[in-house]
Amino acid sequence: MPTIVLRHVSKRFGPQEPLEAGRIAVPTAHLFDTSRTHNTGRPRGAQEPPDRSLALDDLSLTIRNGETLSVLGPSGCGKTTLLKVIAGLLKPDSGEITYDGVPIQAIPIAERGIGMVFQTYALYPHMEARENIGFYDIVRHQPEKIPERIRHIVEVMGIEVTHLLSRKPPTLSGGEQQRVAVARCLAREPKLFLFDEPLSNLDAKLRVDTRMQLNRLLRHYQITSVYVTHDQTEAIALAHRIAIMRTGKIEQVGTAHALYDAPVNAFVAQFFGTPPMNLFLGYIFGNAWEGRGFQVSSIRPGLRQGQAVWLGIRPEHIELGDHGIPAPVEFAELILPQQTRLVYATISGQRCTVRAPLSTRAEPGDLLHLRFPPENLYFFDCDSGARIG
Ligand SMILES: Nc1ncnc2c1ncn2[C@@H]1O[C@H](COP(=O)(O)OP(=O)(O)OP(=O)(O)O)[C@@H](O)[C@H]1O
Ligand SMILES: [Mg+2]
Repeated sequence: MPTIVLRHVSKRFGPQEPLEAGRIAVPTAHLFDTSRTHNTGRPRGAQEPPDRSLALDDLSLTIRNGETLSVLGPSGCGKTTLLKVIAGLLKPDSGEITYDGVPIQAIPIAERGIGMVFQTYALYPHMEARENIGFYDIVRHQPEKIPERIRHIVEVMGIEVTHLLSRKPPTLSGGEQQRVAVARCLAREPKLFLFDEPLSNLDAKLRVDTRMQLNRLLRHYQITSVYVTHDQTEAIALAHRIAIMRTGKIEQVGTAHALYDAPVNAFVAQFFGTPPMNLFLGYIFGNAWEGRGFQVSSIRPGLRQGQAVWLGIRPEHIELGDHGIPAPVEFAELILPQQTRLVYATISGQRCTVRAPLSTRAEPGDLLHLRFPPENLYFFDCDSGARIG
């Protein structure tokens, strides 16, 4: 269960570089197969083609021993590339990756003990699910290890049902296949588990079930894991810490609470939290922040006169009353599971989302009066995006 450290890792892709799709679909066993070595498809030292995109940009990150670190970020920001670089499937252009202080290239791929699960299932179609799960132990001639660990895993994953275990993958549903794929990886006692949106093909109920099962198993076996997802709920449920990524860089790493309460910049503030934080552009004049249509007097110290500043407030922190900032309603959505109403209003033409009580009357054209409690306000420098209060 290693601690993994990435220091100043950069990776550029050339336009001609073959996509890693073939590798993505590769069953995990190949990661343990010493006969396979990674080949980028481009000769060493060959002239770098122009117009290369920077998928990882001087990225530094520590994944602690035994923790589940979730990576959240917009599509194309480099999450899959990050996983491949951590696994050693892609060689970075610069920077260093170590497993417990040992450079990754000094560890044979077979000894890295990496399990990977992707969005697309990678099972051996000709084998029964039971064999898929026990595959690694069987090929390593350790059949005595199979029963206990596999019994536990299939029980927690809910695939203990005899009929499921004796069926071949093409006859299993997507959700069943994915659970078998996860179980197969776990059965091989990985030291490091890499997940790339493993549950995104599953329906809502199955997602929650599988998430809970995965959570139990990751905690039980304390496997160092990196979990890429687009689903914030999943990240919050599974991860000890969450890394927010943007254009090849890690913007912030922390617990869900830390990211929610203390985002370091406007990007994290908007990206983490659903619906996103409202941001309004304004300027500092005297002791006030002045924006379009409203101003806020209680500002933090340290803001410069005339400074362009984003004011941020989360939809759930806005209060409704008889007085306050006038905001006509554009439309509203009922969020039944959370017993709230999401109201999309405008303040002098600027969109403002409010999470209001279910009882709130909010028809298009109704006028709401909003109050922004000073303790829930955030300020971000307009140029750098950095949080300044
Ligand atoms: N083999 C490749 N050749 C060229 N460009 C690539 C290659 N693989 C990834 N890229 C580019 O690198 C960037 C990061 O891609 P990556 O797949 O890591 O993003 P991602 O965060 O996983 O996105 P998504 O959330 O859509 O899966 C993108 O701009 C992508 O187009
Ligand atoms: Mg990806």
